[in-house]
Amino acid sequence: MGKYQIAVLSGDYIGPEIMKAGLKVLQAVSKDKNFDYEIKELPFGGAAIDKTGDPLPQETLDKCKASDAILLAAIGGPKWDQSPKRPEEGLLAIRKSLGLFANIRPTNISSVMKPYSPIKITDPVDFVIVRELTSGIYFGQPKSQTKDEAIDTMRYNADEITRVTKIAFDMAMKRKHHVTLVDKANVLATSKLWRQIVGAIAKKYPKVTYDTSYVDAAAMKIISDPFQFDVVLTENLFGDILSDEAAQITGSLGTIPSMSKGQTGPALYEPIHGSAPDIAGKGIADPISMIKSVAMMLDNSFNRSDLAQEIYLAIDRSINKKVTTPDLGGTSSTQEVTEEIIKSIQESRNEYVTNDVR
Ligand code: IPM
Ligand code: MG
Repeated sequence: MGKYQIAVLSGDYIGPEIMKAGLKVLQAVSKDKNFDYEIKELPFGGAAIDKTGDPLPQETLDKCKASDAILLAAIGGPKWDQSPKRPEEGLLAIRKSLGLFANIRPTNISSVMKPYSPIKITDPVDFVIVRELTSGIYFGQPKSQTKDEAIDTMRYNADEITRVTKIAFDMAMKRKHHVTLVDKANVLATSKLWRQIVGAIAKKYPKVTYDTSYVDAAAMKIISDPFQFDVVLTENLFGDILSDEAAQITGSLGTIPSMSKGQTGPALYEPIHGSAPDIAGKGIADPISMIKSVAMMLDNSFNRSDLAQEIYLAIDRSINKKVTTPDLGGTSSTQEVTEEIIKSIQESRNEYVTNDVR
């Protein structure tokens, strides 16, 4: 079999710093493990605007489409505030062009992360947000702005709701068998449609319990009682907001990866945070979100949960040793954390071999 093709979009500010970390870990974990890949680094976001004037150049899109998976770090920043095209347009365009309608954002607080959580952890926190990613108010027409009026349109059709709902319920079947639909059905017409469609689909999954929550109440429950959630299904804008909130209860936004996927074609893996211009160039960005994005890719696009598991365990061990960047209260650099994780992967492999021989 040929080598897997991985498209690499490093983007802006801390983007290249954490991508470097993610790729180093990928190289280390795949060594001698029968996982052959080739990476293609492609301009994207602000970096691509500087080069070509376009945040998503045609060549980048074509090569992403032809790849087996896409790794993206982070894009955007003040440098392009006045630019005729913003880096974020590239992000929305790649999601839309590749049909990546389902965005999976995990929130789990492993025992090593408990001390970092700003909330009181009385039970396991392990849920996943399934965010609709290619419709809703981000994309609805009309969208316009004049000097004294601006319009955004929240629009959904039945197919868009159905396909992402199926992903959420299928995921619940492999997890704790519970789906919560988050909406604003007491006000919004789109939410009323979501309720109708999701309610009907829920009946086809008798093994999955199903409930609904208004988004304002859900925002509260993520802080007061996050233990109740398993799969949280929601539309684009609510998912954007709630996933940052959910990330923060784990202790740091800098540790959360995500996967965006469609019906067919390559999936895209990226940290849920942005490009953090304030800490760029200082070498202190937390690489864990990117390294976990690599693990999610190995597991979901390449069926290598063995390698993903090695990465997750090594991350936990490095946090346990308090080798962490400042967002987790540590004094280590991006590079030191990355090296610690790699060392931990290698050491546990050596131990395994030694035990085996004995
Ligand atoms: C995210 C980001 C993006 C979004 C921005 C950068 C356009 O916040 O992936 O959550 O709103 O989707
Ligand atoms: Mg966001």
